[in-house]
Amino acid sequence: MTAQAGDSGMAATSTRTTTPEPLYGGRGTRRVTVRDIAAAKSRGERWPMLTAYDALTARIFDEAGIPVLLVGDSASMVVFGHDTTIPVTVDDLLPLTAAVVRGTSRAMVVADLPFGSYQGSPETALAAATRFLKEAGAHAIKLEGGQRVVRQVEDLVAAGIPVMAHLGLTPQSVNAFGGYRVQGRGEDGERLLHDAKALQAAGAFSVVLEAVPTELASRVTASLSIPTIGIGAGPDCDAQVLVWQDMAGLSPRTPKFVKRYADVGGALREAARSFADEVVSGAFPDEEHSYR
Ligand code: KIV
Repeated sequence: MTAQAGDSGMAATSTRTTTPEPLYGGRGTRRVTVRDIAAAKSRGERWPMLTAYDALTARIFDEAGIPVLLVGDSASMVVFGHDTTIPVTVDDLLPLTAAVVRGTSRAMVVADLPFGSYQGSPETALAAATRFLKEAGAHAIKLEGGQRVVRQVEDLVAAGIPVMAHLGLTPQSVNAFGGYRVQGRGEDGERLLHDAKALQAAGAFSVVLEAVPTELASRVTASLSIPTIGIGAGPDCDAQVLVWQDMAGLSPRTPKFVKRYADVGGALREAARSFADEVVSGAFPDEEHSYR
């Protein structure tokens, strides 16, 4: 298929002007790019992001028009059953990322760099991120931290890898925080704002703000030219993200900032019980579900 200028995010040679498609709710079908995300910020447009960890769920979110899907290291809990994000590895997340890429045709797929894969040096960060792009087809990566990962962000961006940053309650630092607590209160807020500006200067294309006071997230959002993506950061961020199992009612416990939009857990439990009852009673399989 021939690539069309303006269709693929490449420099347009045509003089034709087109009305920009919104990130969410438009008719665009090509992959969302970092340029689309930057353009949405300049238009003052809000947009949704969800996590995804498998092809079928990713396809549903893609069909629903979610423009950015994150293969989060939250997979450590919601896929692998650990208590924190610390144990999950690059090798664990690579096949999930590849599945999400295969399940989608429009969403930008962002892969989370897990704990221990990037903190050591810009070289380790580049090696891990390269695997996500080459082996899984990810379009961008996410990493946690402020000033301490600026050199990693600079080197990744210089290598052509879009970087989503993550500030506030960065779950990989749960042991240093002494639990999952709201971050950025009082003087810490100034440090967070400083970190956000440093990450933007290093070339990050967006920054997740997790569990920070609304007023601070609002200040950060107004101070940056890149979008902020809130999770427990109030309504003024440019975008909002939730872990899909939390948002859809599959997770047994959720933090205060999560709104449940469905009861997928209840629906699955009901389906499993109905199936089991029909197997026991002999009602399934009936003629309709059997071969002659
Ligand atoms: O791992 C994850 O799911 C995340 C989001 C919740 C931002 O980092």
